[in-house]
Amino acid sequence: MDRSQAKQCAKELLKQMTVEEKIAQMVQVSYADVTREEALQWAKRGAGSFLHVLGDNAREIQKAAGQSRLGIPVIFGIDAIHGHGLNDHATIFPSQLASACGWDPESVRRMGEVTAREVATDGLHWTFSPVLCLGRDTRWGRVDETFGEDPYLAGELGAAIVRGYQGDDLADDEHILACAKHYLGYGEATGGRDSYDTEVTERKIREVFLPPFRKAVEAGCATIMTAYGSIDGVPLTASRRLMHDILRDELGFDGFVVTDWDNMNNLRNRQMVSTDLSDAAVKTANAGNDMIMVSLEFYEAMLQAVQEGKADMASIDEAVTHILTIKYEMGLFEKPEKTGKPGCFGCEEHLDAALDTSRKSVTMLKNEGMLPLGDGIRRVAVIGANADDVHAQYGDWTYFTHPRPDPEHTPVRPYVTLWEGIRAICERRGIEAVYEKGCSVLPDDGDDLEAAVRAASSADVIVYAVGDVIAQFGETHDRADLNLSGRQYELFRRLKETGKPVCTVLIASKPLCLNETAEQADAVLCGFNGGMFGGQALAEAIFGELNPSGRLPISFPRHSGQLPVYYSQLPGWHGGKYCDLPDSPLYAFGEGMGFSAFTYSGLTVDDDLLLTVDVTNTGRTAGKETIQVYFRDDVSSLVTPVRRLIAFTQADLMPGETRRVSIQLNKESFALIDQNCETAVEPGTFTVYAGHSSKEEDLLSTSIVL
Ligand code: BGC
Repeated sequence: MDRSQAKQCAKELLKQMTVEEKIAQMVQVSYADVTREEALQWAKRGAGSFLHVLGDNAREIQKAAGQSRLGIPVIFGIDAIHGHGLNDHATIFPSQLASACGWDPESVRRMGEVTAREVATDGLHWTFSPVLCLGRDTRWGRVDETFGEDPYLAGELGAAIVRGYQGDDLADDEHILACAKHYLGYGEATGGRDSYDTEVTERKIREVFLPPFRKAVEAGCATIMTAYGSIDGVPLTASRRLMHDILRDELGFDGFVVTDWDNMNNLRNRQMVSTDLSDAAVKTANAGNDMIMVSLEFYEAMLQAVQEGKADMASIDEAVTHILTIKYEMGLFEKPEKTGKPGCFGCEEHLDAALDTSRKSVTMLKNEGMLPLGDGIRRVAVIGANADDVHAQYGDWTYFTHPRPDPEHTPVRPYVTLWEGIRAICERRGIEAVYEKGCSVLPDDGDDLEAAVRAASSADVIVYAVGDVIAQFGETHDRADLNLSGRQYELFRRLKETGKPVCTVLIASKPLCLNETAEQADAVLCGFNGGMFGGQALAEAIFGELNPSGRLPISFPRHSGQLPVYYSQLPGWHGGKYCDLPDSPLYAFGEGMGFSAFTYSGLTVDDDLLLTVDVTNTGRTAGKETIQVYFRDDVSSLVTPVRRLIAFTQADLMPGETRRVSIQLNKESFALIDQNCETAVEPGTFTVYAGHSSKEEDLLSTSIVL
């Protein structure tokens, strides 16, 4: 059934519903926060949705919902964020940030498709993914969940994963609902503080933060989640302007909106804009939130508001219609449970997809002739806690972390840590490999730097993993200081003193301040949270079995005090740098290298905005190049960024091969948001750049007139 037929059915059903049933339909219950009996009662009362419930428990709830007066099916939501990771047998992909390093919408689409199939096989309907916030202040604890700092890249990857989750038909048994979140500006909160106030104007919202959501809506994303914070003092939960006027009227969003966790209660308890819960309930519904996540108080509070004549029945009717429409479109009234594809967990196709995404995520940031390790290497020392820590490799949102932290949960195979990946290759090649942790990521009494130095001294080369652990990221875990914690720098210095070449490998949730561990290393690889096969992919790159092709979706600061360091800065900084630090990041957006090198020549853009450039692989290895296209509005009515990404594509090139690459640009890409918040391409000259990264020296440029 299509959306308009579904809406008709929803409106018919709405006529039969009591006020109590309508309000219950807007409630989403957290299974982990109620008893089984309470859960069943909520289902019989007609609660619209449950989250974080799997398998037979979900089936029992659906059965109870079937016994409610109207038998409206329940919709089950889950945080399947990089794979259906709350199920310990699911396929676990790299984090969104790691997968974004591939700059490959197709592999991200496939990640969505595989995840959807596994979620559906658990009988569930809906994932709270993707995160379309931008990771621009990397102190924020949830940077790992983003596709990085750039609106264009995040939008392309976001639209791709939405297509992967939802497929062409919401009623399809192997596809589920996507949920673009957190609407809006959550990643840009002041000081990198989770769910705090965001100091942006509507103009900036439209230019930077809205575009990825627009693309998700265009890709058909069926649900949107409201952010926690506030913008200019208005809680997002209470912003009818953003949720109704902009999201629905302007962007044409036609699905349903769910609040984030307990947002309704937060209006009264934290943000202090409501005197009581009834007022909070009314504000939440009137702003355009359709489903109320976990604030069970909503039910009584809204009923009271209705009885006291304070509620707007039209908002309630609209909300319920939105929810029921999607339920009809999904075919839940005929078949409430998705069956997915039994037996698909951990099947070859899914594991291959995870491995492929991990491989594409590996990003080499420095190589002074050390990699790939080749003949003549007899002994490799692998050092560092994160080299053999599946928790660090997985990052957030798996069965180790949610719905409750469960660090003791036995890790379920398959997965390959960096140490295991290196050991496997070494065994195959007859190379000796040793592992020593050396030091923990967090300060720890058990650190044994001497053991690590001994192991390193007798090796030919050192692979040193640095990074962070879950206590340092995730919700409510923002960091003021992005320096490596514990004794990680000290251990690096000691390893360096052995005189052996050191390859630093970052296994972390986000860009940390690598400082000397990058500046004095012989090679640097970035894996972020690489998923099941993150360690294998890094090991393959170290030994040249993989030619790394990742490009950074986010810039690396040299120092926390330099933040933000995203590439699309506005010009005009008096002096252009701090007096004690440069303005440049340690590694810039778009950076990344492989074992081949690429040169660019002959950049042109014709009158129809067809960009053409010749790209040559000047190396001795076949390799993949990501051709990045940026522009600058030379002179405009407002201050505009020094560069903005507007297109990219990839080319696999054999050694010595030159490829003429063409990319069709469109005029709208050159638009700015003017002072009246209108989208406009201001006539004049524009500089178009194409090349290897966002850095000026990596780009060719040409001028066009629009
Ligand atoms: C997070 C959301 C998540 C939700 C449900 C919230 O705390 O902000 O991203 O989807 O919980 O687990």
